[in-house]
Formats: sequence, structure tokens, C-alpha cells
Amino acid sequence: MIETIQWTDQGVVMIDQTRLPAEETYVTCRNYREVADAIRTMIIRGAPAIGVAAAMGVAIGVAQADPADLDGQLAVISKELAGTRPTAVNLFWAIDRMNRVYSEIKHLPFEEIRERLIAEAKLVRVEDIQINMAMGRHGASLVPDGKTVLTHCNAGALATAGYGTALGVIRAAIESGKNIDVYADETRPFLQGARLTVWELQHDGIRATLITDNMAGHFLRAGQIGCVVVGADRIAANGDVANKIGTYSVAVLAKENNIPFYVAAPISTLDLTLSSGEFIPIEERGGAEVTHVFGVRVAPEGTEVRNPAFDVTPNRYVTAIITEKGVARAPFNESLRQLAELKK
Ligand code: MRU
Repeated sequence: MIETIQWTDQGVVMIDQTRLPAEETYVTCRNYREVADAIRTMIIRGAPAIGVAAAMGVAIGVAQADPADLDGQLAVISKELAGTRPTAVNLFWAIDRMNRVYSEIKHLPFEEIRERLIAEAKLVRVEDIQINMAMGRHGASLVPDGKTVLTHCNAGALATAGYGTALGVIRAAIESGKNIDVYADETRPFLQGARLTVWELQHDGIRATLITDNMAGHFLRAGQIGCVVVGADRIAANGDVANKIGTYSVAVLAKENNIPFYVAAPISTLDLTLSSGEFIPIEERGGAEVTHVFGVRVAPEGTEVRNPAFDVTPNRYVTAIITEKGVARAPFNESLRQLAELKK
């Protein structure tokens, strides 16, 4: 099993996703600032994995804080972690969860607060794997047998604590006996598809074919894709989905060709405070990711660049949203709220 992130006595250990697939190396974050840097620089990435990292960042930060000013230092730690990346709501969900636990136990001795927060962060990780497996069980029946599934970016074990959201659904379908091939969009500019999705599918012996992003329409039209399954970074109350840049184009092409477009995401990715996707903050990253490929310049000096890391797919392109509590379909305002309110 791929270990994306773990709590150890030495610190928070993460597989370095900036170095895959060339090198399988691990980074140990020894304080909350190093955790924040790891999220910012995408050593760890993917909405649920960012959430787990943030929870562990809060835990390690409080564990090393001055017991005389825990309230003040927790606020500083939370602010620094919250400022790392704006789009994946799991980051803020995890920081809020850790703050809620802290406020319930702040009257206890420091040693106990420390242990309880570490236990909570470890629980966020374990629960994430269980949630992904539940999502897989709900989604497996939607994936047609004997067909190819197209995915975009990496919504796999590497983007979570393990098993994955979109790739979890694919894994579960295969575990249920279905014969499935995966086409992975390379996912420019950061190449999560080429570098991470193909690596982790190969690791698990799942047949994966790499295509460039601009080939997706060709294969969708050619009748070779049974369905599309992607993850999400934030889903608004009306079912609009923010996910890796390029997802929107795939969704439109899927609808045009009558191919189901599924989004697999945990309830912690829902942001029911936002009525629609137009309010989701979209991260804009540095231009060098576009002008350069692995340090090699591919555009002239002085090129103007835009680099939004995510786009929003309007709900009308989304066939269903697969969560750990069940599958939501349109009208999403109702179905998502009902799922969110369901007890575990
Ligand atoms: O910029 P990234 O690599 O963090 O973006 C990741 C994605 O867009 C994933 O599709 C999303 O977080 C879902 S991961 C289960």
C-alpha cells in the first residue's frame, strides 16, 4: 500500500510528490511551518491529503507550542496553514475540526491536550482511508464492466491518506471483478496524471494508458470511454465542482458524447456555505509551471502567462457525485444536503 502521509515520533512523514515517479523519497516535517511549506510547494497535494496534512500540522504545532499561550499560538498555526492553498476546502475543514477539538479540551493539562490533538490528527488520516473505501463501494456499480475509464489529475492514494477517491472507485470496481482499463490525462502543467496517476496505477498492477489533455475529446468521441471519474477540491451546494484545471473541458466533452461524468469526493469536500461554484476561490500559481517543463524553458523569455490551478464544472455536466454516504444526483441542492445531514 502507498503511504502518502504518516505521523511518526520524528515528525510528519510524506512521500515527496514533486519527485515522483523518478524517485520515491520521503520528507519529514519536524514542525508546523515545514508542514505548511510541504502543502504550499505540493510535496503533498490532493484535497483530502492536504486536509490530513493540515490536521497533523495543527497537532505538531500545538505539541511544540508554549503551554502558557496555547490559544494565541493555535491561532497563528491555523492562520499559517490556512494560507497555504485556497481552493481545496478540506484544508479549512481539517483546521476547523482540530480547533473544535481544542476548544473542547483546552481546560485539560497540556500533556493531555497534546495527546488528544495528535490522536485526532491520526484519526483524520485513518477515517480518510475508510471514507475512500466506502466511496469505492458506492461508486463501483456505476463503472461499466469491460470499458475504459478516463480520469483527470490524480485523485488516488497519493491525493488522500490512501486508496483514493476517483481511483478508489476504479479500484473498488476492479476488486468487484470488473475488467477495467484507465486512461489518464497527463494534466498539464503540473503533470499529476503522467507522474502520479500512472505511477500509482502501475504500482497496483492496474492497466493505465497515458494521454495528453488535448486527446481526451478524441477518445470520448471515438466511443472508447465508458465513463469519466474525477475527484474534487470543493463542491458548492448546487453541485458545481471545482477540480484540477482541465476538468471542465473533459466534462463538456463527456456530455456532448453522452458519456457519464462522475465526481468522487468525501463529504468534507462539500462547501454548502457557497450557493454556486462562482464563489469558489481559484488558486493561480506561478508562471514558471507553464513556461517550463522540468526546469527546461519551452516558451520565449517574457511570455505572459496565466496559470489557474483549478476550474469549475457547472452541475449540469455532472452525472452524479459519489460520496462515502451514497450517490447524489440532480437536483444537487437537495441530494447533497440530504447526504451531508445523514449520520455516519
Ligand atoms: O493541485 P492539486 O494536485 O492539489 O490538485 C488535485 C486535484 O485537483 C484533485 O483532483 C482533487 O484534489 C481531488 S483528490 C482526491
